[in-house]
Amino acid sequence: MAAMTPLPAPAPVALVTGAAGGIGGAVARRFLAGGWRVAALDLRPANLPDAHPVPADLTSVAECHRAVEDTVAAFGRIDALVNAAGVWTEGPSSETTEDEWDRVMAVNLKGLYFLTSAAIPHLTTTQGCVVNLSSDAGIQGNAGAAVYCASKGGVSILTKALALELAPQGVRVNAVCPGDVDTPMLAGQAADFGGDDPQAYLDRLRAGYPQGASARFVRPDEVAELIWFLCQPHAAAITGANLSIDFGLSAGIT
Ligand SMILES: NC(=O)c1ccc[n+]([C@@H]2O[C@H](COP(=O)([O-])OP(=O)(O)OC[C@H]3O[C@@H](n4cnc5c(N)ncnc54)[C@H](O)[C@@H]3O)[C@@H](O)[C@H]2O)c1
Repeated sequence: MAAMTPLPAPAPVALVTGAAGGIGGAVARRFLAGGWRVAALDLRPANLPDAHPVPADLTSVAECHRAVEDTVAAFGRIDALVNAAGVWTEGPSSETTEDEWDRVMAVNLKGLYFLTSAAIPHLTTTQGCVVNLSSDAGIQGNAGAAVYCASKGGVSILTKALALELAPQGVRVNAVCPGDVDTPMLAGQAADFGGDDPQAYLDRLRAGYPQGASARFVRPDEVAELIWFLCQPHAAAITGANLSIDFGLSAGIT
């Protein structure tokens, strides 16, 4: 009798938010390349033909729950949740409007939290993990970006609290804290807040790095590689961490 070939184990599943953006898109591609199945959540269509699209607005708690249900209906499981959706804002704090505060907090903090909350039962089943996109602005102040800093500081500390809460059930929770990453968000920052000289805005950011004249921005694929590492079994000891990927920008004073 011919030997039975064992059925391959089903490929693990990553739910990636902000998948139409720079970092989320790079994460989705990295996981697909690694043989995972990917649910690609965004407000906008993502150009990821091999992923399962999950159109959703994370500012709605009901949509967070629906997005998790959609992913589980499509794939049957969630092994990793990568929370990469986010928005930037800056400007003098004397001029911040209530709407602006609410918009940034609703995406960066509330949406991230309630999507994670909805995914916890599924991550518990798979002994899975969460990776949150914080920022250098989540672990140090950025002048002129108090609202964004508050949202990312919230992400960094809720990462630690959730890591402690979920450790007994075998779920790991980490954050990555990139410096400036070459994505549509960064280009949008320069266009929206760089006045009539967006290039000078980017040059000012670059001048803040300890590498001096050879400084460059982080690439989205470099952030994706770190996130991929954090979701592998050999990262089992890493939970509650805020890992910087910023060329030393947040390391101290030069
Ligand atoms: N680019 C940087 O310099 C940088 C640095 C540090 C941290 N980050 C963080 O990394 C993450 C990804 O940033 P990016 O540079 O890829 O940005 P990006 O603008 O390229 O992508 C962000 C994506 O989030 C989506 N999004 C926004 N609001 C949403 C909502 N309500 N529901 C669903 N999706 C929504 C957008 O449609 C977009 O596709 C963000 O959390 C950002 O704050 C970025």
